Amino acid sequence: MEQELQELKSRALEAIKTAGSSNEMEQVKVRFFGKKGELTQLLRGMSALSPEERPIYGQKVNALREELEEEYKSALARITEKETNELLVSEKIDVTLPAERPVIGKMHPITTVLNDALAVFTSMGFKIEEGREIETDYYNFQALNMPLDHPARDMQDTFYITDNFLLRTQTSAAQARVMENSAPPIRIVSPGRVFRADEVDATHSPIFHQLEGLVVDKGLSMSDLRGTLDIFAKSLYGSDTKTRFRPSFFPFTEPSAEVDVSCSACKGKGCKICKDTGWIEILGCGMVHPKVLANFSIDPEFYSGFAFGLGLDRIAVTRYGISDMRLLFENDMRFLRQF
Ligand code: DAH
Repeated sequence: MEQELQELKSRALEAIKTAGSSNEMEQVKVRFFGKKGELTQLLRGMSALSPEERPIYGQKVNALREELEEEYKSALARITEKETNELLVSEKIDVTLPAERPVIGKMHPITTVLNDALAVFTSMGFKIEEGREIETDYYNFQALNMPLDHPARDMQDTFYITDNFLLRTQTSAAQARVMENSAPPIRIVSPGRVFRADEVDATHSPIFHQLEGLVVDKGLSMSDLRGTLDIFAKSLYGSDTKTRFRPSFFPFTEPSAEVDVSCSACKGKGCKICKDTGWIEILGCGMVHPKVLANFSIDPEFYSGFAFGLGLDRIAVTRYGISDMRLLFENDMRFLRQF
């Protein structure tokens, strides 16, 4: 018995001495001090002893356990300290190295144009309304006086999702929803993406951006529309900017017009940006068709309205002299940083 104790002691001391890491120390702990460890095993062997010998033997085993635990603890402390020091060295950070610069983005030209336009209209008391990119045929076309067989639909090659659902071709769809959900006086602008099945080229994209405006109140006339858009054009392009209204056709306005602004690059003399005309077309507009008002139970006998829809991409392209619209959608930072 005595010999067994001695042998266990030297095995344990040897194991403690050779363990080089806290992992190995954990194995030593399990091997000698664990529930099924060698020390516990020794106590099990006691049943072979006589009742008088048992307590003496038990004391010896316990004394050995205490001694070995002391050894173990101090060895573990040494190893932990060594490992902490190694970690501190390997994870050392050189705080004098230059930091990595964060990549700072830039406002997209379309966003800048939109923000500028919204600032002008909100200062005139317009509220901002969000429309929906996925619309029904009703709000995008029918409610705006374009029934299923209307030829004006052909001008807006449409992405249909089902017969009834489509990607909106114009932010004008938001007008319909606003008139449905509120009563005059109405004064809103509604920006957003619109979609048409157009081939991509330097001046066309299947996705582009519009800002819709709608005002409905008593006693509005074409001069209110002209005044509003004139202030808008002067705020956006400079106070010497002129506007020109050309007669046009939209099914949901009567009369309708397209609006050109004098080219700010050449002051109307003619240049590449305005294709030598001195004018740049920026929007469509008109007096809301009485039928459209009536579609939303707004009595055209008492109320009138005007509406407009501007092309934000076109304004961005002409404002910054961008030669190809595709550049707006490539998200190349070398391009975007210029604005
Ligand atoms: N929705 C028309 C388009 O995309 C633009 C437009 C014209 C909007 C006249 C209007 C408007 O609100 O009154 O071509």
